[in-house]
Amino acid sequence: MKILIIGTGYVGTTTGLIFCEMGHKVTGLDLDEQKIQALRAGNLYFYEPGLEELLTKHIQTNQLTFTIDTEKAIKDNDLIFICVGTPQAPDGSADLTFVKNVAKSIGQHLNEYKVIVTKSTVPVGTAKLVTSVIQENQTSPIPFDVVSNPEFLREGSALEDALHPDRIVIGTTSETARTIMRELYKDFHCPIVETHPKASEMIKYAANSFLALKISYINELARVCDNLVINVKDVSNGIGLDHRINPHFLNAGMGYGGSCFPKDVKALIQTAKEQGNPLSILEAVVKVNAEQPIYFIEKIKQSLGSDLKNKTIAVLGLSFKANTDDTRESPSLILIDKLLEEQATIKTHDPIVKMGVPHQFLTIEETVAGADALVICTDWDDYKNLNWQGLKTLMKQPYIFDGRNMLDKEKVEKLGFYYFGMANH
Ligand code: UGA
Repeated sequence: MKILIIGTGYVGTTTGLIFCEMGHKVTGLDLDEQKIQALRAGNLYFYEPGLEELLTKHIQTNQLTFTIDTEKAIKDNDLIFICVGTPQAPDGSADLTFVKNVAKSIGQHLNEYKVIVTKSTVPVGTAKLVTSVIQENQTSPIPFDVVSNPEFLREGSALEDALHPDRIVIGTTSETARTIMRELYKDFHCPIVETHPKASEMIKYAANSFLALKISYINELARVCDNLVINVKDVSNGIGLDHRINPHFLNAGMGYGGSCFPKDVKALIQTAKEQGNPLSILEAVVKVNAEQPIYFIEKIKQSLGSDLKNKTIAVLGLSFKANTDDTRESPSLILIDKLLEEQATIKTHDPIVKMGVPHQFLTIEETVAGADALVICTDWDDYKNLNWQGLKTLMKQPYIFDGRNMLDKEKVEKLGFYYFGMANH
């Protein structure tokens, strides 16, 4: 098939590459000429393990091309994937400006029957909206179908997730479009959920919100475990072995971040409010998540004293999770802001993210030198097996605050550190 991917971010680029792997011919379209130029040259402009190799491979075979020519791209392809961003609007809902602009262009340039697929995370009713916008902008009534086909890949493991999804969701009322989508995904060995576009759109938000709920549940439980001196990791393990619960997304820490959970949970809350059925459970999820970095700072204060003014704190990790350079809604940056409000001196490190401020250092040794405490904010593998003995000699005070519960508490305590995790007793 000839597939057009509109929007070449994490989702668009990964999706396009997966379709190349399946033997389809793919065109990537973006309005940002710089991004297109970088991709054409085989350079991924964001960090995502494994993608750049595939990008180079498919550019070389000419299976993958990039363009900024919207009209030609729409006319030349059979299947159009909308993968543009849906940022958060001031009221918490999803801003559909980019999606609507794309739909308008499709309407203007549609020359024969095509299937238009929304891959971006879009609120319930968007397939209908896209249909209307396309129709309004058509000069002649050429038929088309709109399908909702949400993406469930995670940053940091995008390729693996996209190649081996748990399920594929196809939301359409058109038999023709359904047949085309089945054909597109025929080589994937996972269940395919075929449903109405509205249900498909809801599945995406409900999945992300449920995962966020699991995280907030374990985080709030961790606070209780902290008081009772219970290791929350044992609790996660003990409940996660129940297959009805499962062990995933039960790691207590500094709270969820990234470009999806924070915005998607709020968007679903907004959708529910508009329907007059508030999702109070998700409102609690957001509240707990917002409290988590504050809870962690209280821990730091209990050890270092309530006045952090003359304290130097080394923050390890800036991205919202490991294996990505994405810092959107990163708990690390939220913690740093709050520590700066307390007038602490901050030194930071990240293996991939290069922000420069506040005082970012290239090596962990430089970062922790003279620090009263080090705080692990991102679960990068690099932080697991550090030369703790050596680092201790560089620090002013041997305090470790492990916001990801990733260190061996006993091991670092044996070396003379004071260790505090998230109920990691
Ligand atoms: C999330 C979903 O997991 C994907 O399925 C979805 O496709 C994607 O959003 C999206 O909507 O595009 P992502 O935001 O890349 O993926 O990252 P996750 O691995 O889900 O992590 C989100 C946040 O939760 C991170 O800050 C992570 O550190 C945190 N987390 C995760 C925890 O604090 N504890 C856990 O046990 C798991």
